[in-house]
Amino acid sequence: MDTCLVRMRVNGRPVEREVPARKLLSDFLREDAGALGVNVGCEQGVCGSCTVLVDGVPARACLAFAVQVDGAEIRTVEGLTTDGSLHPLQQAFHDHHALQCGFCTPGMIITAYDFLARHPRPSIAEIREALSGNLCRCTGYQQIVEAVQDAARLGAVPEGGER
Ligand code: FES
Ligand code: FES
Repeated sequence: MDTCLVRMRVNGRPVEREVPARKLLSDFLREDAGALGVNVGCEQGVCGSCTVLVDGVPARACLAFAVQVDGAEIRTVEGLTTDGSLHPLQQAFHDHHALQCGFCTPGMIITAYDFLARHPRPSIAEIREALSGNLCRCTGYQQIVEAVQDAARLGAVPEGGER
């Protein structure tokens, strides 16, 4: 089996592994970087649960091989916390009961984070549109939209995101 040396920074931490050339980024992040918040649902780019930021841009980790993002800076839902405290956007999800089983939540939060960094004062319609590629089987979406709306009101994500 062909292997490749892959290096990336995951939530600020360098990770370097020799991995099979066809190892998915989602598997790399879970198995080699310990980012278990990268939830894998459909494995076909449809559900959005595996969404992470690759060099600041949302991407579905199940659709890329790890080697394709060699050298990248990756941020997962774990990377939003500070010293074990929830990020204000994560706190908004908690406060609004915006999760039930929680499977979709990391992808929802990463997608919402990127959206709010670019649209600090969104309308409800814009929030729904931004999250339309992330599927939730549990909540009916209303609380998720309310959480993102409240996070925007509180300025939870600075314009341009946190650097
Ligand atoms: S697991 Fe990647 S989009 Fe569904
Ligand atoms: S909270 Fe269960 S899938 Fe969204």
